[in-house]
Amino acid sequence: MLERRVTDVLNHMTVSDLDHMHQISSFLLPSKALVPRPPPGSPSHLVKPTHNRFFSSKLSKMNGDTVIADVTDPTTYANYTQIASEHIDFDWSIDFESKIVHGSATHLFHVKEDGVKEVILDIMALDIQRVEVEGIVVKYEIGPKHEVMGSALHIPLSNPPKSGSKFKATIYYKTTEGCTALQWLEKEQTQGKKFPYLFSQCQPIYARSLTPVQDSPSVKITYSAKVKSVLPALLSAVRVSPPSNVVHGGKVIGKDVVAYAYEQPVPIPSYLIAIAAGNVVYRAFPPIEGKEWTSGIWAEPELIDAAYWEFSEDTARFLAKEETIVPPYRFKVYDLLVLPPSFPYGGMENACLTFLTPTLLAGDRTLVDVVVHELTHSWFGNGVTHAHATHFWLNEGWTTYMERLLLEKLHSPAERGFSFLIGSKSLADALKLYEDQPKYQRLVIEFARGEDPDDAYSTIPYEKGSNFILHLERTLGGLDVFLPYIYDYVKTFQGKSISTKQWKDHLYAFYANNPEKVKALDSVDWDAWFFGEGTSLPVKMEYDTTLAQEAYALAERWAESRSDSDLSQFKESDMNSFNSNQKVVFLERLQSLPTLPASHVTHLGKIYHLSDTPNAEIRLRFYELALADPESQTAKQFTEEALKWAVGDDGTGIIKGRMKFCRPVFRAASKVDKELAKKTFVKNKTSFHPIAQKLIEKDLGLA
Ligand code: BES
Ligand code: ZN
Repeated sequence: MLERRVTDVLNHMTVSDLDHMHQISSFLLPSKALVPRPPPGSPSHLVKPTHNRFFSSKLSKMNGDTVIADVTDPTTYANYTQIASEHIDFDWSIDFESKIVHGSATHLFHVKEDGVKEVILDIMALDIQRVEVEGIVVKYEIGPKHEVMGSALHIPLSNPPKSGSKFKATIYYKTTEGCTALQWLEKEQTQGKKFPYLFSQCQPIYARSLTPVQDSPSVKITYSAKVKSVLPALLSAVRVSPPSNVVHGGKVIGKDVVAYAYEQPVPIPSYLIAIAAGNVVYRAFPPIEGKEWTSGIWAEPELIDAAYWEFSEDTARFLAKEETIVPPYRFKVYDLLVLPPSFPYGGMENACLTFLTPTLLAGDRTLVDVVVHELTHSWFGNGVTHAHATHFWLNEGWTTYMERLLLEKLHSPAERGFSFLIGSKSLADALKLYEDQPKYQRLVIEFARGEDPDDAYSTIPYEKGSNFILHLERTLGGLDVFLPYIYDYVKTFQGKSISTKQWKDHLYAFYANNPEKVKALDSVDWDAWFFGEGTSLPVKMEYDTTLAQEAYALAERWAESRSDSDLSQFKESDMNSFNSNQKVVFLERLQSLPTLPASHVTHLGKIYHLSDTPNAEIRLRFYELALADPESQTAKQFTEEALKWAVGDDGTGIIKGRMKFCRPVFRAASKVDKELAKKTFVKNKTSFHPIAQKLIEKDLGLA
């Protein structure tokens, strides 16, 4: 029990023990960080702990209470507890021909301890050319490369600065082909097919392959950027110039170099640094009266109408609704960017500029919940940030809980229940997938140094996390009691990075004056929620199933018809009243029942248009149903079609780069026909984002 152990050890130490330990181990970190990479295939690919895991644990004042900060971030080399980056000034040029970003990053460092001899930054696949400290060229050192962590960039400080002082260091560098954060697209891979495209994905630990940085969410920085590009460039910040509505500053797209200037005045973690450049245009959403923030959408010109239609109704409305629950939106701008199809996520909450998969353009506004999710991160994640991968659930669990609360407030309580219900299926699948790695079934995961947080990525932190918070809401007596707490949680911690323990301490502190509520909190099985393994939640949760009933009933009818050869009782009109989520639930329900004959699956796919729908959420569930039993005739019949859909070899030419869609298809297909799955992937590998490539390779046993 991580939390228990850490607190137990710390509770038996004196302040000076801790300080002493802190000094010794932080001192040891730099030289010991140069640990050679273990040979590939060795039982542990992990970096051996280079320092006492408690090295940065120290007593600190928080809201008047004394709390113990947990262990430091296991995924970074940075000595951020000694020296913290506060601001970065980027000066970049994008070279689409050679597919590199080159330029410099100037950090403003804040010294936290006397006598620190070096700054350590994270880098991965970067070509470092020169490092200057306060304008003077220094001799830097680069540690060995670790597959997951990248390398430590050691910048010596010849005159160790005093605690409290500040200084600047500039790193001149180029990105390289191996930069996992960046995908460079050929013009054929875009909607317009006229210009290339570049975009980044820094979460969880890829910012280090875009820029030298203290790549930990425990460090928050402001940033400014100047980016020279022949195509419009967007960053996760507020645009300074040229104006968003003057395309490419009035210059010729694809030919003239334009300098884009951006400013991010709100401190953000490194994983929210983001860049995209391509032939994109902007359209503002109608402003909301009384709001100082603006909202709008970016997309390639060919998609801007569809993109605007899909999201213009809801985005600003939901943002405004969220402001009735939590403190006001702080980032001034909330824009959306619709990316090309290889974007590996549904959405990514980059500050000021949420990145979205184009698969959300369903033409019926049904997938807007992804936008609701991403805008909610503005508070839960971008405001109150998880300290590191162990506490990732604080970001996603809270965001998922809030996303569903907004659905209740703006639609109906039934919508909230329905969303939890859909989530429970994906939770069950994820828990099953990790049966052999029960550690990843936990909400709070203790990562070893060098362990890849992407290996643990699943819907577990989302679903277990949001159910946990829903359980707390119910245990404490419902929304009336819970809403003031939510506000106070954000108010207390926005701008900070926190651990699970800090979150829990604050929750107790909020209700401290109310013995009945404290008693309610004491009744919660905290250990089971935090560290429980296995395939079910610690508490059986009940949800509103109103919207699911019809879908369940239809699924039952199909299940009962298993041995019928005459299927004329089923009509296209059976689904007339279904929205797309109900279709999803219908297909998921069928998955949990014994496999239907191939002829039935083919028939239901056809009559309800589930096997040719452009809605990827539905199409995925259809293939999951068809491939559920790898030995079945149904699976054999649909494997090739499912793979073709995933790689865009289905006449559309559109790859399903979103990992939520392509990974399950490759995984399911490989259980039916491993060779075909591998062959299909290898042939199309470079169309996928580097992160997706890496994870699909692991899934298929190719890495
Ligand atoms: N922040 C995540 C995406 C992410 C998480 C990227 C961890 C890299 C590492 C984003 O907010 C997210 O959760 N996206 C979901 C949206 C869904 C839950 C509505 C997705 O992409 O599926
Ligand atoms: Zn999220």
